Amino acid sequence: MLKFSSVTKVFKSDFLKKPVVAVDDLSFNVDEGSIVGFLGANGAGKTTSLKIAMDFTRSTKGEVSFEGLGKNKSEIFSNIGFLPERPYFYPHLTGRAFCHYMGKLVDMKKSKIEDQIERWAPKLRIEFALDREIKTYSKGMLQRIGFLTTLLHDPKLIILDEPLSGVDPIGRKELKDIIYEVNQLGKTIFFSSHIVSDVEEVCDKVIFLKNGKLVYQGRVDDIINKNIRPVTKIRYVLNNETLSIKTEDSSKTMRLKELIEKGADIISVEQDKPTLENIFYNVGS
Ligand SMILES: Nc1ncnc2c1ncn2[C@@H]1O[C@H](COP(=O)(O)OP(=O)(O)OP(=O)(O)O)[C@@H](O)[C@H]1O
Ligand SMILES: [Mg+2]
Repeated sequence: MLKFSSVTKVFKSDFLKKPVVAVDDLSFNVDEGSIVGFLGANGAGKTTSLKIAMDFTRSTKGEVSFEGLGKNKSEIFSNIGFLPERPYFYPHLTGRAFCHYMGKLVDMKKSKIEDQIERWAPKLRIEFALDREIKTYSKGMLQRIGFLTTLLHDPKLIILDEPLSGVDPIGRKELKDIIYEVNQLGKTIFFSSHIVSDVEEVCDKVIFLKNGKLVYQGRVDDIINKNIRPVTKIRYVLNNETLSIKTEDSSKTMRLKELIEKGADIISVEQDKPTLENIFYNVGS
């Protein structure tokens, strides 16, 4: 649905300063129907890439193409919903009035906007606050009303730049559930984050950037399975204390025997699966 082909973006400020290569020969795909996480540390080039996708800034080299979204630019962009990294909300408007304002900007009829609010607000769990002024909203509520505005015109592809940033763990969990539900209702979702575990939880696929370069793109399960080490984790109780040890797979039986002889009660024996976070810290180093 969205394809980056060897995209490079160089920012040149003036003659004296070194140009910044924000995105470096980046190629990846976002397939229809998927949830794709765009990971990378601060300054990795995520926002710049998303701005290039949205045509807010031009790439220096390479191109972005879309499949199944339309024949020309205006048709393509009418099928994309975008939530920027730092969206601006009019504080004195209510959530509902803000949705109407955003809908009108894309020539939507009042009745259609209302239908869409009715369709999505309960799913985004923001219905209760629609008639309150936005200045009273928490960060999580702002992200939800922002997310709602990306869905108003019924786009096929939703691009969210750091939708979970600044939201507490409970709010993040709720937003992740919402992202999942919106995907289940047929929308393709591409969102950036620098928190690996958030992406691991909700995404089918991950694209990992470092200094503007692609480090990895692929299925979350695949990268975890590829990085499983032959290590077993044994959890046990000994003298009323719950403990765990890691051992090479080859010496697992011997270690278990030793523990049982000492009188330990074995709770679990499982393969030591790395988290995506462990893997990317290794890949990135
Ligand atoms: N307009 C600009 N002019 C010059 N340099 C820029 C400009 N925009 C971004 N950069 C630089 O490009 C690099 C990538 O920035 P970008 O905002 O894309 O990163 P990011 O991955 O979104 O980071 P964050 O997680 O902090 O949002 C950074 O080094 C940044 O300083
Ligand atoms: Mg950014």
